[in-house]
Amino acid sequence: MTSSIRPFRPDSALYRPPVHFFRGSLGRFATGVAVVTFDAEESDGRSRRQGITVNSFTSVSMDPPLVLVSIQRSVRSHDLLAGRPFAINVLGAEQRVVAEHFAGRPSLDPVWIEGRFAPRLCDALSHFECTPWAAYDGGDHTLFLGEVQEFDYRRGDALGFVNGQFCTIPEQTSGHEPLF
Ligand SMILES: Cc1cc2nc3c(=O)[nH]c(=O)nc-3n(C[C@H](O)[C@H](O)[C@H](O)COP(=O)(O)O)c2cc1C
Repeated sequence: MTSSIRPFRPDSALYRPPVHFFRGSLGRFATGVAVVTFDAEESDGRSRRQGITVNSFTSVSMDPPLVLVSIQRSVRSHDLLAGRPFAINVLGAEQRVVAEHFAGRPSLDPVWIEGRFAPRLCDALSHFECTPWAAYDGGDHTLFLGEVQEFDYRRGDALGFVNGQFCTIPEQTSGHEPLF
């Protein structure tokens, strides 16, 4: 007798393709949420502020200070971001609507701050202004690495994302900065 972890055949109404389980497995990894913001150059040569919500933000290196975002090749921001300075805006728990705004559900008029290297969003939990460092092939994504030039943070709960849903990651209120 044979057994299978996924008993549903492709012709069953309960069948889910492998990519569904791949996404589901990845979704168990809880992350924060950030918006990558930058000045995009339009075809008429004018520049326009652009942002894209990501949860692929990762720290890479302390010396030099490098961070990474993974951007899907098919989205508008992909080609616009290539070779441009950018800012990472880590979102606070109350900024869910900002995350949705830059994930294709526009609903607000964001308040921008003119950074030294790139435009960024008002009230982010932390931010990192970056100059482009490298871009690597990541299959149907590109890994954009930036060298951090400016950064800062404020206190507050963080916006989280897990199992396809937003959540709140409470701030620790011990009063000092833990080492780990
Ligand atoms: C929580 C969350 C995380 C996301 N993370 C990423 C990501 O890391 N990389 C990516 O390319 N798209 C990501 N997306 C999808 C983009 O935000 C979305 O496709 C966006 O509308 C692209 O905008 P654009 O076409 O104007 O560039 C994420 C969306 C959400 C809601």
